[in-house]
Amino acid sequence: MRKLHPQYGFNTLAVHAGTAPDPTTGARSFPIYQTSSYVFDDADHAASLFNLQAPGFIYSRLTNPTVAALEEKLATLEGGRGGTVTSSGHAAETLALFPLMAPGMEVIVANKLYGGTINLMGKSYRKFGWNAVFVDTDNPDDFRRAVTEKTRAIFIENLANPGGVVADLEAIAKVANEAGVPLVVDNTMATPFLSQPLEWGADIVVHSTTKFLSGQGNALGGVVIDSGKFPWLGNSKYPSLSEPSPEYNGLTFAETFGDLAYTMYSHAISLRDLGCSQSPMNAWITLNGIETLPLRIERHCSNALEVALFLEKHQQVEWVSHAGLESSPYYDLGKKYLPDGTGSVFTFGVKGGYESGLKMLETVELFSHVANIGDTHSLILHPASTTHRQLSDEQLITAGAGAEVIRLSIGIECVEDLIADLDQALERSKQ
Ligand SMILES: Cc1ncc(COP(=O)(O)O)c(C=O)c1O
Repeated sequence: MRKLHPQYGFNTLAVHAGTAPDPTTGARSFPIYQTSSYVFDDADHAASLFNLQAPGFIYSRLTNPTVAALEEKLATLEGGRGGTVTSSGHAAETLALFPLMAPGMEVIVANKLYGGTINLMGKSYRKFGWNAVFVDTDNPDDFRRAVTEKTRAIFIENLANPGGVVADLEAIAKVANEAGVPLVVDNTMATPFLSQPLEWGADIVVHSTTKFLSGQGNALGGVVIDSGKFPWLGNSKYPSLSEPSPEYNGLTFAETFGDLAYTMYSHAISLRDLGCSQSPMNAWITLNGIETLPLRIERHCSNALEVALFLEKHQQVEWVSHAGLESSPYYDLGKKYLPDGTGSVFTFGVKGGYESGLKMLETVELFSHVANIGDTHSLILHPASTTHRQLSDEQLITAGAGAEVIRLSIGIECVEDLIADLDQALERSKQ
């Protein structure tokens, strides 16, 4: 793992970054600033805040102290320069692209993605005039061939939902770099504990913090983290950042804020106008969740690999797609990019197809049938009839979510109990 801090390692930063003891009260647990607005010292102070000439808080749609602590923690853990926390993972995807895109412009998107993201980018973005061009995740040359003068970003998941697919991050980052556009990576499934995409040449990282980061399925959220390294200054492809902004007295974000330009824009314009801000309560839950992230992810990963090995040998199972299995075509990429574990979400195919799959969902006892991942509880889902149901048959196959596919998100329970539960459900799925 890359050295994120001159003195402290990842586990220490997960606990301490962004959350020093409260200077006023000494409170050790970071407080929830459950407030929407902040008193100005005087008229000049208000003016300097509104002109972006002084740091500080105005209104919680733009910034809030608890949300800012989460931004600092996550930017630190990803090795980024700045972060912008959002109301959900989907909001983070749109917020990440907002400073980069304009009507008629294109984003190149990997085709193995969470189904909701395929919909968002493939369908809803058309209403903004943004065009998503889907290419094969497994083939970096397809990304290269898709680059045009209108390309403004490349978007991938490094470990794709619903599971088992690892992207060749370094090769795709090289394509983005040569094309002069930022690579945006959704790191939800790996978390910064397993992978830090900025290390491999990505420019921007997004997360659904709803999953492993908050960790217990109780707080929706997202984040956008910027490396601070992309050259916006004087770059005519990105006028939002490189040209004067009339609403802020003609300041140019890239000139005034340097390596914080993208993050400042995301607060001062994107959050201000789109309003997809996170509540302080959710930010607080997520801050607490991240403190135990390393411990949880280690258990998630070891449990998941053991369950995958069990399923691979089970006579009721057709195949298992988990990048930690030697049989996986992504095994080598997994070893390179995710040496400490390939996550806890993966898919398998049940013998007997659709009917047997549904029967399994109804007979598991410990596994909960829900549309979520990254919970301490083990979860089970049939993507084709739920999260991926808006996709065409062809998109379902491409996304690894065909009719017989079951997705598991393995929790942190006793692994032998999980295996026994799946075993009895597989036996009953035969009948
Ligand atoms: C990889 C990935 N990205 C983004 C999202 C969207 O996140 P949210 O549900 O927080 O909007 C999800 C949701 O499942 C996801 O799995």
